[in-house]
Amino acid sequence: MSELIGKKILLGISGGIAAYKCAELTRRLKDQGADVRVVMTKVAKEFITPLTMQAVSGHVVADSLLDPTAEAGMGHIELAKWPDIILLAPATANLIARLRVGLGDELLTTLCLASPAPIAVAPAMNMEMYLAPSTQENISVLASRGMPIWGPGDGMQACGDIGPGRLLEIDELVQCVIKYFTPEKQLLEGVNLTITAGPTQESLDPVRYISNHSSGKMGFSLAEMAQKMGANVTLISGPVNLATPSKVQRVDVCSALEMHQACFDNLSHCDIFIACAAVADYRPAQIETQKMKKQQGIDDLIIKLIKNPDIIADVANAENSPFCVGFAAETQDVERYALDKLKRKNLKLIVANDVAKSGQGFNSEQNALTVFSDTERFDITLADKKAVAQQLLTIIAQQYLQSK
Ligand code: PMT
Repeated sequence: MSELIGKKILLGISGGIAAYKCAELTRRLKDQGADVRVVMTKVAKEFITPLTMQAVSGHVVADSLLDPTAEAGMGHIELAKWPDIILLAPATANLIARLRVGLGDELLTTLCLASPAPIAVAPAMNMEMYLAPSTQENISVLASRGMPIWGPGDGMQACGDIGPGRLLEIDELVQCVIKYFTPEKQLLEGVNLTITAGPTQESLDPVRYISNHSSGKMGFSLAEMAQKMGANVTLISGPVNLATPSKVQRVDVCSALEMHQACFDNLSHCDIFIACAAVADYRPAQIETQKMKKQQGIDDLIIKLIKNPDIIADVANAENSPFCVGFAAETQDVERYALDKLKRKNLKLIVANDVAKSGQGFNSEQNALTVFSDTERFDITLADKKAVAQQLLTIIAQQYLQSK
């Protein structure tokens, strides 16, 4: 009964009859160890009182965007940063439509826009409203953005109709939340996994370097989720500003040459190698020992660069090489370039990352990926990097097991 210990759940209640079930939902999530804060729309308060939700959640219910007392305590931006997940239950047709177009017309929709947390949607409404083409289209757009859609259930509705549109049973909803936070642990049990993450820095002189925008978030999310799925994880990271995930062995490096060395130092016991790092393809041919001075009267500076070793290609072509998974960060012709890297670098899988799209890729909270093997393709839609990491690792684990 403690599957959700430490998990912070923001329950967003919109105005449908199923709102009355939210007291029980809150109680059951808390029974599992979750901390639940509640946000209600104006209409939701017609179906269940904020006082009831305050009593069961143990927190004052937030319901107003312009509430000076709330801003003095946990204001809406702080509240947006707080949850591990936003659960919209019940999500009415109206809320779903507002979410789709990105309205910030009250506290709940504003939080959904402002929060980096994943948003799960539990639709509940009259059957005809659910089946209306506009609602169906709105739901599929939300799903394509990576939002888990939980339900609706089928059966007798409050209005007497029978069909799809019921809020999932509370048990089912709690299980959805638990499953969301519980990676398929057995899949990587005992597997030794090395992950590279972050950028490399290639020094020009003692104070300057060439680098890129990688924050390390994708690689660190993979390391955290792989460890939770049972793997022994070594994380070889370029310079980033992130905490080491629990129970992960971290090796810090700076340049591509250092990363190359660290990968080979850790190769003997590696089963799966995932290269998520944005490694500089080239480095300055010479590192000046003193800070380079600006030359009077010379407007152009030409720096000679030389090629860095291709770390993943070298690992994939080493004796007893592990199961190698590369990333391909591309701004155009994503599939073609990714497939070329799959073949050229002798990889088992390539993870194509379209980094031209805003809101994903380098230094963002979310990502969307396409994974290619020789014969198959898997799409992972836009979601929080941890959720994406979990899906990607599931694909990698399945492909790895099949290859043995
Ligand atoms: O760190 P974040 O801000 O979260 O951003 C995540 C990310 C965008 C960096 C990540 O999702 C990603 O796409 N990583 C790969 C970035 C990259 O450098 O891709 P590439 O197409 O240039 O390289 C292809 C593959 O070869 C990659 O697996 C790379 O790690 C590897 N490589 C490249 C050059 C080199 N010298 N050695 C390598 O091993």
